[in-house]
Amino acid sequence: MTDILQHIDQGVMTLTFNRLDKKNSITAAMYASLADAIENAQANTEVRVVLIQGHETIFSAGNDIADFLNHPPSGHDAPVFRFLRAIAGFSKPLLAAVAGPAVGIGTTLLFHCDLVYAGDNAAFSMPFVNLGLCPEAGSSILVPQMMGHHRAAEALLMGEPFMAEAAQEVGLVNRVVPPTEVNSYAQAQARKLAAKPLSSLVETKRLMKSGQSAQIMAQIEAEAASFGRMLQEPAAREAFGAFMEKRRPDFSKL
Ligand code: COA
Repeated sequence: MTDILQHIDQGVMTLTFNRLDKKNSITAAMYASLADAIENAQANTEVRVVLIQGHETIFSAGNDIADFLNHPPSGHDAPVFRFLRAIAGFSKPLLAAVAGPAVGIGTTLLFHCDLVYAGDNAAFSMPFVNLGLCPEAGSSILVPQMMGHHRAAEALLMGEPFMAEAAQEVGLVNRVVPPTEVNSYAQAQARKLAAKPLSSLVETKRLMKSGQSAQIMAQIEAEAASFGRMLQEPAAREAFGAFMEKRRPDFSKL
């Protein structure tokens, strides 16, 4: 699988979206690779930190729409849900380096990261409503919790994108750097973390998250049930059909 590159060096596992011709959109096979890698990182004592990154022009366009239509995720063990459980439950530090668009799960996965670095061209969007869908990855709790309800409504109800500077202001992004430097900057930060005592990192992260872990896992399951049902309904069919046919969707009768 070359659509997800995996590399381990100095305690840092780096996972790179590598499907530029399709804007790093994520297929079921890619979710399976990511889930396998993170499950391995959890167990592998050589891995102390995981960094997820894309390209300086695009982080990820989210779910691969064609693959999604052909192989809609079904059941608890669908690759996308394995991936979400893996990042939500990952006990070691999880970092992301984002440049360019981060659409849908390209943004929602960041709420499970501990540190996020962004290029000044990063554009975050969660257009689930525009696709006839609902939030996923625990984002219906995590987004309003981080941003407050009104800003979350702009992002989740209006589906409005927001840029790196705004993402830093609300606390989603730790630091904004030039797009050509974001992956190397995040790598340097990841190596600093990897040099620290792992037991302290893991215990600190556990304590920071312990109040909410079960609630987030339950919300991921509840959102997945709604998302799976809505995928089959007319609004999503119209939205995805419009994307495939490169036209504007018409929700006027839905
Ligand atoms: N799924 C499948 N294919 C996708 C994709 C996706 N999510 N996003 C982009 N692609 C494909 C396009 O169909 C196009 O393929 P083609 O060259 O065979 O026609 C190619 O990637 C380039 O995309 P394009 O839209 O021309 O690039 P852009 O630079 O103008 O715009 C984005 C980039 C990310 C802003 C835009 O592609 C986009 O909005 N994608 C859809 C994102 C989305 O709705 N994701 C949520 C899914 S739940």
